[in-house]
Amino acid sequence: MSTSLWPAGVSFNNGVLHISGISAQTLAKDFATPAFFIDEDDFRARAMGWNKALNQSFGSNAGNVYYAAKAFISVEVARWIAACGIGIDVCTGGELAVALAGGIDPQKIEVHGNNKSVSEIERAVAAGVGTIVMDSLFEIERVAAAARKLGKRQRVLLRLTPGIEAHTHESIATAHEDVKFGFSIASGAAWNAILEVRKYPELELRGFHSHIGSQILNMDSFEIAADRLIGLLAKFRDEFSAQLPELDLGGGYGIAYLPGDVELEASEVLPALYSQVKNACERAKLDIPKVSIEPGRAIVGPTMFTLYEVGTVKDVTLESGKVRRYISVDGGMSDNIRPSLYGAKYTTSLANRSSSAPLVDSRLVGKHCETGDIVIRDIELPSDIAPGDLLAVPATGAYGRSMASNYNHIPRPPVIAVKDGKARVILRRESEADLLNLDI
Ligand code: LLP
Repeated sequence: MSTSLWPAGVSFNNGVLHISGISAQTLAKDFATPAFFIDEDDFRARAMGWNKALNQSFGSNAGNVYYAAKAFISVEVARWIAACGIGIDVCTGGELAVALAGGIDPQKIEVHGNNKSVSEIERAVAAGVGTIVMDSLFEIERVAAAARKLGKRQRVLLRLTPGIEAHTHESIATAHEDVKFGFSIASGAAWNAILEVRKYPELELRGFHSHIGSQILNMDSFEIAADRLIGLLAKFRDEFSAQLPELDLGGGYGIAYLPGDVELEASEVLPALYSQVKNACERAKLDIPKVSIEPGRAIVGPTMFTLYEVGTVKDVTLESGKVRRYISVDGGMSDNIRPSLYGAKYTTSLANRSSSAPLVDSRLVGKHCETGDIVIRDIELPSDIAPGDLLAVPATGAYGRSMASNYNHIPRPPVIAVKDGKARVILRRESEADLLNLDI
């Protein structure tokens, strides 16, 4: 059970953050701030850890680990994925292009998306992707047309909504059908989609997919989803006297963001998932299908931190008479939209020195022209934090850089990979020239 918030290679010596032996000051001097730092070995270890746990738990019934590119991808990270031998889940033409540029075997690419364009579908089929996950009746026809045009037979899964609100248990897990993704099992839409796919000889239906949510911290919802998908596999077998060979149970495994949080670890999750699948298959008298998963956050989230420099410190007296210290850093909602968008909580540590100053109620804010530009709403921080200090925010690897924007014309920060005492840029900082380049 891991509760660490920092990448494996991070240590603090006399209050100074080091990654792979490099100090925060050196990182700031060499790469400027704000910047994301990724621990390459930790990333590879986590990717391989999920793969090993899937293979150990499911044995010959192990499908693939598809890393969810939406959490964070770059061409270099795609190369690491390829080297780890796992697959990748892409949900746009852009993510597909990065995966291919990184040399990922197309057979190990799985294509998602609720509104894939005809061009995206054609590029995917032409590239020879392993699986396309179908999300609408229109798409079934479009993928079949692309396969016909290219003279191929495309393997497909159907994305199903098993009617579960993640974080909840079965008693209240029936209603969540009101989503844009997939075909609902309960309403019969899933069965109609099965009949539809079977009309096209260009499509090979391999099985079903579900993704029930993200940052999930218990296994109950996965069990219900597996049970319902397996129920439909059994119905298919009864109707057509053949069993579909694959299930993909999606991603969603939660990580630690705050001190005391506990992540869902691969070595605990996958044995549990295996017994849930095995029991459901026994009840339905089915052979265990090949099971795939799509962790994004659980692989990349803990392997990165963001380094900011403090620019201003301001005390604001509230109506209650209480004083709140606003500490402004050189990034904010353009490099981490999650606090504003989801109320997500983070923590931070002073990274360039130790401090024994008393703690004061603080709010960590960015430099954007917006009141809601908050990185951490409430945190106690040393009262002597001053302009020029460095603050590091852990667990920003997933949906940090990947959801970054150019709001207020702030260039997006770089991603720097650290390994064996060396740091190198894998995704460079955007420049003002990059931004101006878009203007005609
Ligand atoms: N598979 C599918 C089909 C998905 O839609 C997702 C995430 C994943 C896998 C990976 O989920 P993960 O293991 O990373 O939880 N922007 C939000 C998260 C959105 C997730 C969307 N789908 C956030 O920052 O929390």
